[in-house]
Amino acid sequence: MLWIKAFHVLFVMSWVAGLFYLPRILVNLAMVPADSVAERDRLLLMGRKLLRFSTLLAVPAIALGAWLWLGYGFSGAWMHAKLFLVLLLVGYHHGCSRLLRKFEQGRNTRSHRWFRVFNEASVFLVFGIIVLVVVKPF
Ligand code: HEM
Repeated sequence: MLWIKAFHVLFVMSWVAGLFYLPRILVNLAMVPADSVAERDRLLLMGRKLLRFSTLLAVPAIALGAWLWLGYGFSGAWMHAKLFLVLLLVGYHHGCSRLLRKFEQGRNTRSHRWFRVFNEASVFLVFGIIVLVVVKPF
């Protein structure tokens, strides 16, 4: 079980590293002057690669978590609260994908300030998940 948990935490860390950085790329895209096509294309390429990489890492992170949960009988209100926050984190991941696509289509209307605030949301979600699974407060 400990090997599964070790790989779970490894893939979770890698997935979340992408989720922390992707919105930074969106902040920069929102600040690119309209005539800087090369800079915009470079940021879009970075964003697409990071999104694909993070999505690939999310799959084993969640699969190993489910194996721990269902395979080793972890239960309790903390586990349900954790699953709810993980669902929000998956929604956040999907949100990043939709926002990046809007930039690709030249349809973004949000300011870089909005993306700076959006960027913080993943930090609070991850902090909540880690407190729930390590402290198990309820
Ligand atoms: C559907 C997704 C997930 C499920 C079903 C799941 C389930 C679990 C379970 C059952 C454990 C073992 C708990 C224990 O040993 O006390 C665990 C450990 C852990 N999980 Fe997840 N997890 C999921 C996603 C995540 C995510 C997204 C994060 C972080 C952002 C995360 C962070 C951790 C950490 C840090 C541990 C180690 C806790 C410890 O050793 O005390 N998990 N997970």
